[in-house]
Amino acid sequence: MRKVEIFDTTLRDGEQSAGVNLHPHEKLEIALQLEKYGVDIMEAGFPASSYGDFQAVQQIAKAVKKTRVVGLARSIKSDIDAVYEAVKDAEKNGIHVFLATSPIHMEYKLKKKPKEVVEAAVNAVQYAAKYFEHVQWSAEDATRSEWPFLAHIIEKVIDAGAKVINLPDTVGYTTPDEYAHLITYISKHVPNIDKVKLSAHCHDDLGMAVSNSLAAIKSGVGQIEGTINGIGERAGNASLEEIIVALQIRKDIYQVETNIDLKQTVRTSNLVSRLTGMIVPQNKAVVGANAFAHESGIHQDGVLKNKSTYEVINPEMVGLNSNKMVLGKHSGGHAFKQRCEELGLFLNEEEGKKLFSAFKDLTVKKKEVTEDDIFALMMDSSVKG
Ligand code: KIV
Ligand code: ZN
Repeated sequence: MRKVEIFDTTLRDGEQSAGVNLHPHEKLEIALQLEKYGVDIMEAGFPASSYGDFQAVQQIAKAVKKTRVVGLARSIKSDIDAVYEAVKDAEKNGIHVFLATSPIHMEYKLKKKPKEVVEAAVNAVQYAAKYFEHVQWSAEDATRSEWPFLAHIIEKVIDAGAKVINLPDTVGYTTPDEYAHLITYISKHVPNIDKVKLSAHCHDDLGMAVSNSLAAIKSGVGQIEGTINGIGERAGNASLEEIIVALQIRKDIYQVETNIDLKQTVRTSNLVSRLTGMIVPQNKAVVGANAFAHESGIHQDGVLKNKSTYEVINPEMVGLNSNKMVLGKHSGGHAFKQRCEELGLFLNEEEGKKLFSAFKDLTVKKKEVTEDDIFALMMDSSVKG
């Protein structure tokens, strides 16, 4: 089966989330957990952006052994030098150089003509390739770039020494079909494309980052970029854990493998959430608190009979102990009886009926009935009879 490499940018693009500012020791803690999770490449930061980030990348590069550690650089020599200084001691290192290629970015941000952009990209990649074997080049805002120009500049940077070509959907503008077409177009129109790995990097402004990444995999990219919990600029990046679990559950469709240890999923998500302060929405796929919670009686009854009735992901697979039966107003007698038995309450039919009725009365006032509530109801003499 084909391998897809996972490029994690939680510590760079993820840290660009408004309000997030990780201390170097927190970045290191996340980096070590990402290594356990099994990502192939981690973008540890943007060394030229601040001395603090330079130090963080340097510490990570020294501590991480199995994962390739890369740093981000604009297409300027001083940025490339900063990345080199920060990651030179890593077991496996690399650099990620980028330059914008869309008409909007070239005209208003870079104030450069397309020809000058090609020249700057080629110079930067040639310079980076003197120090690094692993040079990734990104065409920022690729999805709003003109496709023939994109093909042209990619051909030139491959000749200059790039080993990975990334096509970012920088502003989360593309759709799955369009992104898949772009990747196919580049694969067909860049003559030397076989020399490199293609990579997808999606943002979530229109809520399609994960779908776009999966479409890219179907179109043949060999690397997927994203962040844990989907944190990142504006609406964030593609959620790596969602992509990875989708690849596992729908292997029949995607037919690819990753090096990820799925059992580390929830632990990694919790750590990133705790250290960044970015709360994971309760209903978020895979890692939300409710992702494996069943509340309604019909669902609870089904899951108690056979989990696959209402669960497509096995919670143990992502590192949870089990699913969760939430006792609320929609819960039925089966789930209630099971919870009572788990608590050591083996009631006769009469007691069971009374306790269930007291529980239902309580749900009028309380959304979720806890174990303490059940014990309190038991102490109520009207239940004990
Ligand atoms: O989204 C983007 O374009 C980026 C680049 C720096 C690769 O994060
Ligand atoms: Zn990005």
